[in-house]
Amino acid sequence: MKQHKIWLSSPHMGGTESDYVAEAFDSNWVAPLGPNVNGFEKDINEFLKGQSNDNYHTAVLTSGTAALHLALIMLGVQRNDAVLVQSFTFCGTTNPVVYQGAKIAFVDSERDTWNMDPIALQEAINALLGQGYGIPGKKEAQGNKGYIRAIMPVHLYGMPAKMEELEDISIETGIPIIEDAAEALGSSYYGRMCGTFGTMSALSFNGNKIITTSGGGALVSHLLKYIEKARFLSTQARDNAPHYQHSVVGYNYRMSNIVAGVGRGQMEVLDLRVSQRRANNKRYRDYFSKIEGVELQSEPNADYFSNFWLTAVIIDPAKTGGIDREYVRLEMEKENIECRPLWKPMHLQPVFEGSDFFGEGVCVELFEKGLCLPSGSNLREDEFERIFEVLNRIFKNESI
Ligand SMILES: Cc1ncc(COP(=O)(O)O)c(C=O)c1O
Repeated sequence: MKQHKIWLSSPHMGGTESDYVAEAFDSNWVAPLGPNVNGFEKDINEFLKGQSNDNYHTAVLTSGTAALHLALIMLGVQRNDAVLVQSFTFCGTTNPVVYQGAKIAFVDSERDTWNMDPIALQEAINALLGQGYGIPGKKEAQGNKGYIRAIMPVHLYGMPAKMEELEDISIETGIPIIEDAAEALGSSYYGRMCGTFGTMSALSFNGNKIITTSGGGALVSHLLKYIEKARFLSTQARDNAPHYQHSVVGYNYRMSNIVAGVGRGQMEVLDLRVSQRRANNKRYRDYFSKIEGVELQSEPNADYFSNFWLTAVIIDPAKTGGIDREYVRLEMEKENIECRPLWKPMHLQPVFEGSDFFGEGVCVELFEKGLCLPSGSNLREDEFERIFEVLNRIFKNESI
């Protein structure tokens, strides 16, 4: 008989979520507004502020994808425009650009963090300017081309991108950053929380994330005007009138007070979830330190702090005696243990065939060799034993 399934990353409730949800029922706040919505936003602002003097504003929404979509709308992204997006990501980053009808120029990753390569980004900007794209307030667009409206880096698996270099390019060129921090709540870079970089940032509370509301997301900004506008747009853009009046097209993207109740409970355990995921990562790191040919995604130095949402490894068959990531994945699958290849780069996806890609193809190599290992904060001791048993068999490791 098959043993129970070990998931890559499953929801992990803290215990108080149902109290907040019950409160919503008891007080009949069963709507996309109410005390849990306000409380969850406040909790996120406080968490992101940390010990800093900066203030952040948050609008909780139905998903991280919705947050990115609203950010693009507010930066004026439309048909004929271009957006620079990290290719190595999930489709939640790219799809909202397509909803707006804009072109995506895909940017490669660098090897240190696996995130947007500043050199490839600069190359992409130069190429788009050469094609006639403009930059709002800086350079007029030519012919039928529009404007380069945004740079979208991602912190993959929780690892902060090289934000200093990316911000330098953003400041120099005048192209704003929309930070995709969907996987990186609890990570930080030079002491600053992921989710606070750029003009606007997106968080996700999807079922597999470090904290979850079953489904949900948030838009964060240090500029209140964007968050107020996000609240307006996400509730169908109703003008101030007694009847229903609309001067612009809106969206039904606001988080409900029930779902936000789950979020409030989850915020109480966020720090604990980060330490649990990091402890998982340390366990794998210790294990693979004795195995030739397996490298983990790693913090380049002490200024990078990853929540290690998922532990990801690169398996080089040239050094492991032919063992590759697919072999490991399938051996795990036989034992009912879920592992996943890294995100398939978006420029390789059939839906984006023929798109521009800038870089040497680092993300392609990482995809071919990379695997995410079970990383849930609720992994039990007996489950780790099962995982290491399979790894021992694969790598003929008898020392553990
Ligand atoms: C990098 C990245 N961007 C965007 C998203 C979209 O978030 P959501 O699923 O909440 O729409 C996700 C996750 O799902 C993600 O991993």
